[in-house]
Amino acid sequence: MQALHSSRSGFLGTRRSKASVDFDAEKKQELGQYRTPEAIGAFMASLFEVYPTEIRLLDAGAGDGALTAAFVKRLCESRRRSKRISVTAYEFDAAIVPTLERTLQSCRVECSRSGIEFTAELHNEDFIEAGVSLARGDLFGASKTPFNAAILNPPYRKINSDSRTRRLLREAGIETSNLYTGFLAIAAKLLSENGEMVAICPRSFCNGPYFKPFREQLLDIMSLRRLHLFESRSAAFQQDDVLQENIIVHAVKSPYKTQSVIISTSSGEPNSHVTERACPYTEVVSPSDPERFIHLVSGETDEVVRRQMARFTTSLAMLGLEVSTGRVVDFRAKQFLVREAHVGTVPLIYPCHFNGPFVHWPKPGGRKANAIRDTERTQELLVPGAIYVLVKRFTSKEERRRVVACIYDPHRICAERVGFENHLNYFHARGRGLPMDLAEGLAAFLNSTLVDVYFRQFNGHTQVNATDLRNLRYPTLAQLESLGRKICDAFPNQTELDALVEKELL
Ligand SMILES: C[S@@+](CC[C@H](N)C(=O)[O-])C[C@H]1O[C@@H](n2cnc3c(N)ncnc32)[C@H](O)[C@@H]1O
Repeated sequence: MQALHSSRSGFLGTRRSKASVDFDAEKKQELGQYRTPEAIGAFMASLFEVYPTEIRLLDAGAGDGALTAAFVKRLCESRRRSKRISVTAYEFDAAIVPTLERTLQSCRVECSRSGIEFTAELHNEDFIEAGVSLARGDLFGASKTPFNAAILNPPYRKINSDSRTRRLLREAGIETSNLYTGFLAIAAKLLSENGEMVAICPRSFCNGPYFKPFREQLLDIMSLRRLHLFESRSAAFQQDDVLQENIIVHAVKSPYKTQSVIISTSSGEPNSHVTERACPYTEVVSPSDPERFIHLVSGETDEVVRRQMARFTTSLAMLGLEVSTGRVVDFRAKQFLVREAHVGTVPLIYPCHFNGPFVHWPKPGGRKANAIRDTERTQELLVPGAIYVLVKRFTSKEERRRVVACIYDPHRICAERVGFENHLNYFHARGRGLPMDLAEGLAAFLNSTLVDVYFRQFNGHTQVNATDLRNLRYPTLAQLESLGRKICDAFPNQTELDALVEKELL
């Protein structure tokens, strides 16, 4: 048995004050310190398929070692015995290192009881820095890559485009704006051929334009084996009040994709029942999708919805439409905003003006401005007063639907021009308005449960980006117009609307 190596080069040092509850909370936030609950760690460890004779395990962002401990426990219980395991743990926060050391010591004892040789290296340093220097230029050949297994719960934090972390990642050919995807990308690079990775992380990387380069990299070198979803947003990390939607990813380093990917779900409560189904790989990641979205089709309903949506093949461009984000960023245009409209102003539309199928404007006494000055300097922020379909960019978690659409109708709001605030996306016909039939049909389609369920399959956050709407496939122009004609002034309720969409479009 070898000694535990520990290099303490973290730049947080040992700064830790007894009275600093706030500091700790701040640090927890800054370093993304959310411990994996034991049951989830055990589940993650159970996903590894192959136990080679010698396991070289990476635990990046190791915290107190919960994941390594889960892996070792599973290994020792397993009948397929490996002869030795060497663990390499990276943890940035010096304050956790003593606990991590103790965990590694316990792992050593457990392995020794099971006749498995155990060694560990503990690096109290920045994994991005250390990992990039290991991965840079692929100094190692495939057989010499340091790890054949990786288990991770990486920290989650945005990284600025001009930060050192971002520069380091770029040096290793990794373009990503979040720390967690940086961790996953480096870990994937450091794995040897057929090496396995199991990670719990936010599911935001599965779609969204910012994560496209990461998805490309990950999906090119790794083959997905399982994606595990939690039904409840917060249950998995109850103690930590984590509201990010998390998934567990199991992937194997290989350019060859398997026929299918297991998509499983559980409530996230300890020891909850796991349901799983095998989905064709090409349905999870469509080979013809340039965005490389990862579709999380988890149940029968999802599957039906995915099939129904696959019938729609019309792009926005084929409909002659475009979608843009509202041009008025209110804090930048502060000097032009006015609470109540008067001569020389035009309507300014916020999500608070959504009221059923049509925009209701103004909203007197509300917190938001109702109008924007119509001056030479604001012209570029305004669009001609015409019919548009608006979609909220952000919905609260309590809101029933993720995609919420509403029609701006100049017959109800008389104004030559209008400003759409930045929390909205708006559909337009290359800068001009839409015919009412098309607008009503489009709004009905977007507000349907069909679109909502489909959207949730690949979008784990509450944000609806213009790119998401751009990438969606729509019914034909004739179908949307016909649907629009069925809708009279009073929009149907959700059940009636869903029935109408089904009758007209499916
Ligand atoms: C989400 S926690 C997970 C901890 C542990 N792996 C678990 O699953 O319970 C992420 C850990 O990464 C550490 N961390 C944050 N930034 C890091 C960095 N740049 N390099 C290494 N560790 C880092 C945090 O201190 C924290 O302990």
